[in-house]
Amino acid sequence: MTDKSSLRVGVIGLGTVGSGLVRTLQRNRDRIARNAGMPIDLVAVADINPDTFSRLDLAGIETTSDAGRIIRDERIDCVAELIGGTGIARDIVLDAFRAGKDVVTANKALLATHAEEIFRTAEQYHRKIHFEGAVGGGIPIIQSLYGGIGAATVTQIHAIINGTCNYILTAMEKQGRNFRDVLKEAQKLGYAEVDPTFDIEGHDAGHKIAILASIACNTAIDFKDVHLEGIRDITVDDIKFGKELGYTLKLLAIAKDYQDSIDVRVHPTFIPNENLLASVHGVHNAVYTCAPGLGAVMLYGRGAGDLPTGNAVASDLIQAARDKTARQPVSYRNFYEKRKPVRDMANIEGSYYLRCIVADQAGVLATISHILGEHNISVSSMMQTEAGKDGVCPIVFMTHNAREGNVKKALDKIARQDVVKARPKFIRLERIEEVTQF
Ligand SMILES: NC(=O)c1ccc[n+]([C@@H]2O[C@H](COP(=O)([O-])OP(=O)(O)OC[C@H]3O[C@@H](n4cnc5c(N)ncnc54)[C@H](OP(=O)(O)O)[C@@H]3O)[C@@H](O)[C@H]2O)c1
Repeated sequence: MTDKSSLRVGVIGLGTVGSGLVRTLQRNRDRIARNAGMPIDLVAVADINPDTFSRLDLAGIETTSDAGRIIRDERIDCVAELIGGTGIARDIVLDAFRAGKDVVTANKALLATHAEEIFRTAEQYHRKIHFEGAVGGGIPIIQSLYGGIGAATVTQIHAIINGTCNYILTAMEKQGRNFRDVLKEAQKLGYAEVDPTFDIEGHDAGHKIAILASIACNTAIDFKDVHLEGIRDITVDDIKFGKELGYTLKLLAIAKDYQDSIDVRVHPTFIPNENLLASVHGVHNAVYTCAPGLGAVMLYGRGAGDLPTGNAVASDLIQAARDKTARQPVSYRNFYEKRKPVRDMANIEGSYYLRCIVADQAGVLATISHILGEHNISVSSMMQTEAGKDGVCPIVFMTHNAREGNVKKALDKIARQDVVKARPKFIRLERIEEVTQF
């Protein structure tokens, strides 16, 4: 990396993101060169699928099916790992560092599950890794946490960072259609994978919030400690009842820093209808951060797709080019050194939406209210609908702040009452109040 006249890049993986990156580098070449302080030259691309080469204009660019050639190519300063997965991708990233190359990647699964090894190796070889595309597609949240809002201590993140789930929940809310129906449609439109488990069970959002929390809360995160709940069990009725009581349902990824411990989780969450995140619809993503002093900052945009993510990776190459001329010492210690304990979910405190299906008879409400009171849970609002022909009806409660362990115990007891006809359901509620004061 002695020649500082340009940044020479090798791309491995020319699928959705890789092709978006190539197109972005070609279309915006002059602007990118201006912002990078030097041209960014695409030297070689590798993909095991040769069809990918014919979909792009690769005149003057070397093509190969062998990723190793990119790693060994002495002309190349920076490798873009865009194949995905945690196997070969991991070898590519580590080998690139060992070969003296910087890395850009959009691979959240790799960073969330092999953070310590990846970041320690980067430091060991004095290399840099940039990963804007790994969280929120085209949204520049990583560079913001390091730079734009890097002077603030972010203590809370609430994020919509899985477009598939947001698409499904939006359609359920706006069109009153059930989960299965909308999922099928999302698969047809390419918004959901054939096997959607990874998205709808919260794993994808979990990888992303693990990365954000490591930076914001300055702590290593073991991905296994991220509490994950997906949206498979959400019904249109839940969404409708919540809406009537003033709340919108989203799959939220949440990180909270209490200094001595953190809270990092992904689950369906009711948020006030008037909160900005409630108007993030469809495949769009948004990350809402809060920091004492600074207050709230929200970034909104396209969370996936070839050109949005390609833009994010290209912006990482701009950073890599700047690194060539002004190389600060590398420190990724937050990703492995300190491990703040992650709070047990039983000990978190919050508000809850509780739904019970009960027999339509006198005294039911008193029975449930009594059990909630016994567990220190007070109700902020309540809703009951007409009983159907089967003589049962749902009762919905929104609670004030309560300990989650108490809520679960109360629901276990409620479930055992004869008048209760189905396992009660609970959904967490976040009021997302802006912290402005130090
Ligand atoms: N798609 C998005 O919108 C998006 C958004 C944000 C982040 N990301 C992340 O970006 C990364 C890439 O995702 P993608 O959607 O672009 O994946 P993709 O469309 O499947 O592209 C990956 C490409 O790499 C090729 N490949 C696989 N193994 C290879 C190897 N050993 N050597 C060379 N080429 C290899 C694949 O070929 P085959 O198809 O023949 O396997 C494919 O052409 C993932 O980490 C993903 O999580 C994606």
